[in-house]
Amino acid sequence: MKTIDLRSDTVTRPTTAMQAAMLAAPLGDDVFGDDPTVNLLQDSLAERLGFEAGLFCPTGTQSNLIALMTHCQRGDEYIVGQEAHCYKWEAGGAAVLGSIQPQPLDNARDGSIPLERIAAAIKPDDVHPHAPAGAGEHHRRQAAAAGLCGRGGGPGPWARLAVPSGRGALF
Ligand SMILES: Cc1ncc(COP(=O)(O)O)c(C=O)c1O
Repeated sequence: MKTIDLRSDTVTRPTTAMQAAMLAAPLGDDVFGDDPTVNLLQDSLAERLGFEAGLFCPTGTQSNLIALMTHCQRGDEYIVGQEAHCYKWEAGGAAVLGSIQPQPLDNARDGSIPLERIAAAIKPDDVHPHAPAGAGEHHRRQAAAAGLCGRGGGPGPWARLAVPSGRGALF
């Protein structure tokens, strides 16, 4: 039986059609916002997923760090599955580079985190000021990071349901 190794694009070669598409792709520079391929990818994905805008990031680790640092300030916390890639396999980037501390929770068998487990992990308002230098008073906030750990599960659109009201953000 022929097996196909799909672990990563580092162990596959682009097909002739893919190479031809690359050679024929229109040119542009994303720094100036005029790379038509990147723009099309961002716009079409945002539309399909129902978001205001999209952002192309070349790596998953970079995407996760951007998401965490966009939603959290220094000293904030993110609720995350024990098995989540951004907690388990990214060298603690959120803590090392973003000063964001994880609050890891057990994942269910299907990779999701039950909403009641997330709700129970949300801490009460913190009266102690967390003041990043020069930023004035800042109370610790929490964000929930949702991934399904490659196990595909979770009841329907649970990720979108998991936004704790007004206390944090979910990505
Ligand atoms: C869910 C998830 N997030 C992030 C990554 C990291 O991606 P990259 O190697 O592009 O940084 C992976 C890679 O396996 C992943 O499976």
